[in-house]
This record gives sequence, structure tokens and C-alpha cells, in this order.
Amino acid sequence: KVKTAILISGRGSNMVALVEAAQLETFPAEIVGVISNRPGAAGLEKAQALKVPTAVVDHKNYKTREAFEHALHEQLLSMEAELVCCAGFMRILTPWFVSNWQDRLINIHPSLLPKYKGLNTHQRAIDAGDSETGCSVHWVTEDLDAGAVILQDSVTISPNDTADLLAARLLPIELSLYPKALSKVAKQIQSRV
Ligand code: GAR
Repeated sequence: KVKTAILISGRGSNMVALVEAAQLETFPAEIVGVISNRPGAAGLEKAQALKVPTAVVDHKNYKTREAFEHALHEQLLSMEAELVCCAGFMRILTPWFVSNWQDRLINIHPSLLPKYKGLNTHQRAIDAGDSETGCSVHWVTEDLDAGAVILQDSVTISPNDTADLLAARLLPIELSLYPKALSKVAKQIQSRV
């Protein structure tokens, strides 16, 4: 199984979906740890309840982004991670970190990439008059939310939708998409020589 770590900053519902999927005997990845950059992230307790090792690397304890990322990198190495899943991890990663984890770093983003990189994706889709939006699991590259899409799924936007309603309706779709994408990527890594 591909040893996989999950990076979170908050609620951790995507993280829980990945952990639960990976509990299946036949799943090609195992979750070796969950790391949060926020000590108060609700996801930490959820991971502990699921008996997954957790760690906090609080970006506020480091003077520079580079110093924070070095600590994060060391934590990932100590968990023996071979693959990293960002799941609601709200820090921009530098080229140094991204190149160290090249082809081993994925993220879930709440839009149909390449549309709406960055924040406030649902409001931007509504404001643009789009008839649908969705979520994308993609490879992380130097440029924010710009790496190749691994899997995508969509929801219809109705006339009365708000950003909050859309986010709530999209969440179960994210929770089913991310484990599928992790499975796909882990199998790909297993087949690399
Ligand atoms: C998810 O909706 C995810 O797509 C989004 O944050 C939420 C995290 O929820 N990610 C981003 O916006 C990344 N820029 P969760 O912590 O409950 O999984």
C-alpha cells in the first residue's frame, strides 16, 4: 500500500472520507498520518477518533514560509509518507516544497478547474451565471490550482443558490470523489518502477 499523509487546516471531512476508504483491505493506499497547520483544527480530533497519528506544524511558529515548510517536510518524512493529499489545507506551498513532492502531491479544489482557482469559488461561479460547478482533484504544481486534473465531478447551480448552499450540496460529491482519485493515484504510484 502507498503510505499517504493528509494535510488539513480545518473541519477535515475530506480527510475522514479518505481515512475511511483506506480502511478497506483492497484499497491501494494506507493513511500514515494527518498533519494540521492549525492547532485548533476540528479535523485533528476526528483523525484521533479514527486512530490515525496526528501532528501539528503551526505556521505561526515559523518566521518564514520556507522554515514552516521544512518542518512540514520533516514531519512527512518521519511519517514515511510517499504521497501527500491536501484536504482543506489552506496554505500556499512554495516551489521548494512542491518540487520535493513532485508527482506525489495532490489536492481537492471546490471548482471545475481550470475555472476559479483560489478562494470564493462558489460565489464566483454564481456571479458568472454558470449553470454548474463542481470539484476537482488535481496534481499540485508550482502555480496555484493549476496542475493536471485527476478526477472531477459537477453539480447544477439553481437560480436561488447561495455559496453556502452550493458548498453544502457539493460536499458529499467531494467526499466520494477524493477517495476515488486517491485510489487511482496510489495505483499509478504502485506501477511506477
Ligand atoms: C473543501 O470543500 C475543499 O474542497 C476546500 O475546503 C473544504 C475543506 O473541507 N478546499 C479548498 O478550498 C482548497 N483551496 P473539509 O476540511 O471538511 O474537508
